[in-house]
Amino acid sequence: MFSSYDFGYSWFVGYGLAIPLAVAALAGGLALRRRWPRWTIAAAAVVAIWAATGIVLINFTFGLERPLDLPTARFLPSGAGRVLDAGAGSGRAAVGVLLARPKATVTGLDLYDGYWGIEDNTPERFMANARIAGAAERADAVRGDLRAMPFRDGEFDAVISSYAIDHLRQDGVVKAIAEVARVLKPRGEFLLLIVHVNWATWLVSPHSVAHHPRQDPMRWRDVLESGGFDVEETGTRPSTLYFLARKRGGAATAAITAATS
Ligand SMILES: C[S@@+](CC[C@H](N)C(=O)[O-])C[C@H]1O[C@@H](n2cnc3c(N)ncnc32)[C@H](O)[C@@H]1O
Repeated sequence: MFSSYDFGYSWFVGYGLAIPLAVAALAGGLALRRRWPRWTIAAAAVVAIWAATGIVLINFTFGLERPLDLPTARFLPSGAGRVLDAGAGSGRAAVGVLLARPKATVTGLDLYDGYWGIEDNTPERFMANARIAGAAERADAVRGDLRAMPFRDGEFDAVISSYAIDHLRQDGVVKAIAEVARVLKPRGEFLLLIVHVNWATWLVSPHSVAHHPRQDPMRWRDVLESGGFDVEETGTRPSTLYFLARKRGGAATAAITAATS
């Protein structure tokens, strides 16, 4: 049912492991034909099994080309409200929210400039995926920077951000989280997902381990709390660390936002 979505993740992201798979198959074939020592055949088999498993997991089990499965049912349980997808790209998280929260509207915000593993990363691709979900009338996409969002204070009931804020430098992370706090209504929810190197990352995307330093959950909790949020839930998913946080009401948040702007 999800096969028609096209989130544009490049061939290399989904099928890069086909390269070690092909090399291992070739080496294994050569080793068999030339009667090389048994350990060379075993090594080629191990690499081939690892690469094939990674390809199946990333594409079919985790579903790179499927809308995001929300990691917690506690995000926007009413199913309604105005949601911002911060760093929306081609709309994986936005479509996940549109499907799981049928009375919500979602605005995608993204620079839409640069590669980020997504080919043709444009508002048009975002909207095409919202249309496939049958929810285009509840979606829109806006160009803008996470660190200086083109929205008024308190416009949104909830914000989701998947694998975007963790690509910013530390000062950018602080600014983006202050912006999320600014555009949220008091007591609004923030579901933050970041890339987390765990067993799944080593299995499906070992090349990305180098770009994503191991995350310290306590550091992210501190950044959220200093940015005006209470963290209500944290958890992990394959290659993912998530936080469900709630904006504190009142003057404290305004002071923090002013201090970081
Ligand atoms: C790895 S992609 C993730 C896209 C999408 N959230 C998903 O889960 O498929 C990171 C996205 O963050 C966006 N991005 C990075 N820095 C940004 C910034 N300063 N302001 C707005 N968007 C930004 C990129 O354009 C890209 O679309």
